[in-house]
Amino acid sequence: MIIVGSVRPGRIGLPIARWAASHAEQAGFEIDLVDLAELALPFMDEPAHPGKRAYTKPHTFAWSERVEQADAVLLVSPEYNHSYSPALKNALDYLMQEWQGKPVGIVAYGGASGGLRAAAALDQVLATLGLVRVPVDVAINGAGSLVADGVFAAESKHDATLGRLLAALERYASTLRPLRKV
Ligand SMILES: Cc1cc2nc3c(=O)[nH]c(=O)nc-3n(C[C@H](O)[C@H](O)[C@H](O)COP(=O)(O)O)c2cc1C
Repeated sequence: MIIVGSVRPGRIGLPIARWAASHAEQAGFEIDLVDLAELALPFMDEPAHPGKRAYTKPHTFAWSERVEQADAVLLVSPEYNHSYSPALKNALDYLMQEWQGKPVGIVAYGGASGGLRAAAALDQVLATLGLVRVPVDVAINGAGSLVADGVFAAESKHDATLGRLLAALERYASTLRPLRKV
């Protein structure tokens, strides 16, 4: 599952996510590309703590089922004010058990920082949800200048790091799978 963390018009997150999805498909992954703009989850509106799985809303059941299907998660995250987007936080907060024991990688992007402060801010939340972070990040600095006409022109270093990230996700997914059903 690849989650596009940006929902604003004109976002570069979608082209970057399409680049990541194309690499992942070539590497043999079956991709569910989650565009949070399309998913359009309301701000968290469930009465019970997500850990109880006492869902009441159709959008929560649907999101739960979709995440449940995933063996690994790749977040494509912008950096907003030294953190990540509210849409991504909202989508993560909706669920709990569904995330647990799944490997997660981050393709972070932004200005000079390459989105690494967003990735660092995500760490605490991902660990709380029981996602297992692979130790490889793609960090794209000056990302805006690499997107033209809706296409991300990756540099060779981005392709190489993404390759290592995907290989780590695959390894972690097979190692973690037996631990998930507890
Ligand atoms: C609200 C907002 C806050 C931003 N804050 C940062 C920041 O703290 N660090 C940074 O490197 N870039 C920052 N940027 C620049 C974004 O990284 C850049 O605009 C990027 O294209 C955002 O991703 P998106 O186009 O997919 O939404 C910010 C952009 C926005 C819209």
